Amino acid sequence: METMAARPVPDHVPPHMIGAFNLFDAPGMTPTPHGDPQAAAAVVHDGPPIFYSPGNTRDGRGTWVITRAKDQRRVLQDPETFSSHRAIFASALGEDWPMIPLELDPPEHGKFRSLLNPLLSPKRVMALETAVRERAVFLIDRIAAAGTSCDVMTDFAFPFAVNIFLRFLGLSDDRLDEFVGWANDLLHGDNRQRPAAARTIIAFIDDLAAQRRKAPVDDFMSFLVQSKVDDRLLNDMEIRGTGVLLFVAGLDTVAAAIGFDLNYLARHPQDQELLRREPSRIVLAAEEMLRAYPTVQMIRVATKDIDFEGAPIRKGDYVSCATMIANRDPEEFPEPNRIDLGREDNRHTAFAYGPHRCLGSHLARREIVVGLEEWLKRIPTFRIKEGTAPITYGGHVFGIENLILDWS
Ligand code: HEM
Repeated sequence: METMAARPVPDHVPPHMIGAFNLFDAPGMTPTPHGDPQAAAAVVHDGPPIFYSPGNTRDGRGTWVITRAKDQRRVLQDPETFSSHRAIFASALGEDWPMIPLELDPPEHGKFRSLLNPLLSPKRVMALETAVRERAVFLIDRIAAAGTSCDVMTDFAFPFAVNIFLRFLGLSDDRLDEFVGWANDLLHGDNRQRPAAARTIIAFIDDLAAQRRKAPVDDFMSFLVQSKVDDRLLNDMEIRGTGVLLFVAGLDTVAAAIGFDLNYLARHPQDQELLRREPSRIVLAAEEMLRAYPTVQMIRVATKDIDFEGAPIRKGDYVSCATMIANRDPEEFPEPNRIDLGREDNRHTAFAYGPHRCLGSHLARREIVVGLEEWLKRIPTFRIKEGTAPITYGGHVFGIENLILDWS
């Protein structure tokens, strides 16, 4: 994974507050065989509640890093001071439009959020459940029929997540492989592939919007082009910003969660057998794995100067709330580095807090639980294939690749 060189630390940051750690190239964060980047991130709990981390974004910016879960909640619940307005996707193309609703602040944010909420409500997710299960069964049966080993990410996790997403958009999966390729290039490509993938995705979204405007059907894009905020139809940039966000939000995150879960179970045969024997435990176990192996680092931008737990945050500074750090906070979770699949009262932050709390969390949870249920039903005791090693990495969204499981 490519990152740019770290930019100089601003003068207002006291030298004693600079930490050596970041989520891109600190130990455990670069692509590492058999790594555990979430456990590697937990080392920050040996240090102060806030520090400045140079080079903590893909484009080499420094950020303040908030380590305690309760302080992260303060940041995430105060969008007036800590704004989400960044245009990360567009800036990779030298443009400046927000992904919606992710990069809007209240009150604008709320208008779009209430428009989109019903589309991913628990009820809507229930209606998708049969399709989700059928897809999991189809992919896993195919894997089981093909032999006693597979690459979980390419054979299951990605095609599964992309298929559900296409279904949600109301599209057939003729172009599934193409979509998986775009998502991969966008999230993990080099400095040439990423903007190219971004342009392809934008062209796809714009084209789909144009088609549905001409001839609406019963699908997400038709809904979007007919929707109104403030008594007017959404404009082209708003439709693009929303379409692009849904494209990027639901693919990699769900696939990575399934990958980290199966990676954990492959190495912990007792936990694997427990869930196989008592599948009713999977719902709770999936929450614990979301706590221990979350994947998203959130970034906010300070809108004014503020003193935060002794740190002089200045207007324009980036502030990082990494879910993998909050979820290993010993003040919040007893023995945070122990994975306890029966852990209750699991107030983890894998799906964030505050106004931007993940819109797709109900769908994501269903996909993960159904994926694990069907996997454990159909694949006998599995382990990491001898002579292979999954590659894990940190970043804005943590990931895992080359997860080759074996059940021979
Ligand atoms: C395990 C899977 C997932 C994880 C860990 C995850 C995590 C997150 C997190 C941490 C945020 C907050 C980001 C921020 O505030 O900067 C977020 C927002 C969002 N997620 Fe997810 N997500 C997942 C799956 C999905 C899926 C499947 C969808 C859609 C189908 C989705 C749609 C969204 C949207 C639209 C937002 C923006 C919400 C807003 O700004 O109000 N996510 N997600």
